[in-house]
Parts: sequence; structure tokens; C-alpha cells
Amino acid sequence: MLSFTTVLLASLVGSAFSAAVDPTELVAELRDAPTAVDRVNLLPKDSQFVFDFFDPAAKATVGKGGKIVTANAATFPAVIDNGAAMAVGFLEPCGMNTPHTHPRATEIQYNVNGTIRTGMITENGGRFIMTDLQPGGMTIFPQGSIHFQINEGCEPALFVAAFNSEDPGVLQVAQRFLGLSPDVVAATLGDIGVEEVYGLDAMIPDNVALGTDECLKRCGISRSEQPTTQRQTRVSGNAFPSDIKTTGKYYTTDVKATGTHSTTASTSTYYKGTGGSY
Ligand SMILES: *[C@@H]1O[C@H](CO)[C@@H](O)[C@H](O)[C@H]1NC(C)=O
Repeated sequence: MLSFTTVLLASLVGSAFSAAVDPTELVAELRDAPTAVDRVNLLPKDSQFVFDFFDPAAKATVGKGGKIVTANAATFPAVIDNGAAMAVGFLEPCGMNTPHTHPRATEIQYNVNGTIRTGMITENGGRFIMTDLQPGGMTIFPQGSIHFQINEGCEPALFVAAFNSEDPGVLQVAQRFLGLSPDVVAATLGDIGVEEVYGLDAMIPDNVALGTDECLKRCGISRSEQPTTQRQTRVSGNAFPSDIKTTGKYYTTDVKATGTHSTTASTSTYYKGTGGSY
């Protein structure tokens, strides 16, 4: 009787506590708990062991090409100290999960439906690996590899990704690379000039983006304006030189809309847009 009362009391206190508690406090409590038993008992409700990927309110990375919903230490604290996380990719027709890496996890990806093309490079020296996954197909992306996924179909497609870390992390290659110091980016690209780098990051579509021209054409989808909010924040170390910023000479919005890019390296006129040639 005493133990029943204790359990009842503990669960009442537990649910009152978890209802009031700030999620980051719960995460801190779980991380501080001395044992796994303590962690389980810090989560008194069975519903705390359920994550609904189909819940429209679930936190997601969203772009024109779909969304990625991830159950990790932050969004699903039951994984804490268990070394596992999961994501579901909801790819719109021709949607592309743009090239990225997971700094702390290997990923295994299961294709639920549709045809999903994946590409990967594991490290310098490793060959490029491409797969076309059919429903039931699975592939692996080793920790740190650059990889991408594209829905090749004209219907939405779904994949499930499992990770061997509760905090796999994700690093989008284009957004992060173009967010480095502009002179370093320019020199890395064969010294194309800082002015040629300016504005490129503002053109990178948010993930999940629209994919290849071939797919869009086949499915009759236009590459409409995509949001570009995931670019790297500029601080002093990766700021553009102020003379470029203030003249706005190399601003590329109009180039994106109407411009052409010259492939002739010998000419100094690389971009032509409604703002002129430069
Ligand atoms: C895959 O499943 C999702 C969710 O049920 C559905 O919206 C989508 O149309 C399906 N796609 C294909 C190609 O069957």
C-alpha cells in the first residue's frame, strides 16, 4: 500500500513536473541522471516515448522541395543516452535534400515509397556512389560523408533515416562553404574574385530544395522562387568587404532573375543583369 502510494505520488509529481518544466531543463535532468533507470522514471508518461512524424506541428526543416522531421535529443528526449535518432524525409515531387553531412552519426536510410536517388562521397579519395532506391531499399551514409537524396518521381516520396547518435547534427555543404570568409571562398574556387562570390549565398535555396532541371521538366514543375533563409550568418570574420556591400554593384538578385553567366574566363564580364554588366 505504501509503495503504491509512493508510485502514485511519484507519477503525480512527475507529470506535474514535466508539464511545468522547460524542455531544456528536462534534457539537463536526463543528462544528469545517475542511471538509465532514473532517466526512464524522469519520463512518467507513456506518450513521452512516442514521436509522431506525421504531426503537422512537429519541428521541421522546410523548403519548397519538402521537409525533414527529426526525432533527436532535443525533440524526443527519450533518446537521451541511447545513442539513436531518426528522421523522416517528406520529399515533394523532384524534392532534393541538398548535399550535407552528419558530424556525429552514420545514417542508414530506408526508402518507404517512390524512387529516391542518393549520392555520396565518403572522404577524399573515395569514389562517388549513387543509388536509385525503390520502396524497401536501404543504403548507408558513413559518418561525415557528403550525401544527398532526390525524389525522382512526380509524386511525393518518403524515406526514414536512422542515426547512431541521439544528436547526429547536420551541416549543409553549400550554405556552410559559401558562408566562409569571401576571400577564402574565392581563392578556393580558383581565385574567381570576391566580387564573384558576393550574393551567391543569397541564391542558395532552403533545404528541402527543388531538385534537378531534368526532373522538374519531366514533372512539369517550375523552379519558382525558393526561400533562402538558411545561409550562414555574417560576422566580422566572414563579412564582405564594405565597398562591395555599399555600392551594391555586385548584387545578384537581378542576375538570378534575368542574368547570364559567362563561361569565358578571359572576359571580365561574368554577369549580365538588369543592373548592368560587371
Ligand atoms: C508515399 O506516402 C505518402 C504518405 O502516405 C504519400 O503522401 C505519397 O503520395 C506516397 N508516394 C508514393 C509514390 O506512393
